[in-house]
Amino acid sequence: MTIAEMQAAKGKRKLTMLTAYDYPTALAVDRAGVDMVLVGDSVANVVLGLESTREMTMDQMVYHAKAVRRAVKQALVIGDMPYEAVQKDVAASVKNARRFVDEGGCEAVKLEWFEQAVAVSKEIIRAGVPVMGHVGLTPQTADQQGGFKVQGKNAEAAKKILAAALALESAGCFCVLMECVPDRLAALITQKLGVPTIGIGAGPSCDGQVLVTHDLLGLFDRRLPKFVKKYETLLSRMEEAFGRFREDVDKGRFPDKDHSYSMSEEELRRLEHES
Ligand code: KIV
Repeated sequence: MTIAEMQAAKGKRKLTMLTAYDYPTALAVDRAGVDMVLVGDSVANVVLGLESTREMTMDQMVYHAKAVRRAVKQALVIGDMPYEAVQKDVAASVKNARRFVDEGGCEAVKLEWFEQAVAVSKEIIRAGVPVMGHVGLTPQTADQQGGFKVQGKNAEAAKKILAAALALESAGCFCVLMECVPDRLAALITQKLGVPTIGIGAGPSCDGQVLVTHDLLGLFDRRLPKFVKKYETLLSRMEEAFGRFREDVDKGRFPDKDHSYSMSEEELRRLEHES
């Protein structure tokens, strides 16, 4: 998957993106034919058990990106710029974006909307790193948005989100992600933008859809937002498997002969004789 191929898909077929932070998950996502793998800072919540994605560092994100890169053969790998990466100045933001490419092996980065998002995106793109914009609900700064709530429900707020999406497109972003916005606003933005839109909680009109893989798999025991469709209940299936292991060990059923290594009688006799 290249950025050009992804952009050419607009209006022709729907795009897909899932998160991955480790080798086996990235392998499965890629083998399933998903177009893009996002090394998302949601790893903070669903893997590390942290309250906020703000706690992710650039070093940690690069570590996860490297594992994903080793697995992915087809999909576009996108590194999610953590809060820390854009806090200093534009030059530092560009340096961090380049780290995703040079060290993490990513093909692009995603950047959540904030005051300097347009200026920072422009410079990152100028440095040769494609940028996916992110508007609507932006988890890194959700405290400034009244919490984890639907954004752009009234015309005033919706206009600002549309303006942000257009500004990011003008800055050169290859794609814009919209999180937790009304379906009609997402449809309008999708129609106005020449680049593809990817939605999460943004209704069916977006050019593509993304979900957090751990939510989709039921691997996380938090209350899920309305927009998540749970395709599996893996946490309870894991609990059940771990419980069977514990019981097998307790009852002496594991390890059995099939899972043990043998030694010849002769070698055993020699061992007993010599020790
Ligand atoms: O970090 C993340 O998982 C995200 C979601 C919007 C997909 O940014």
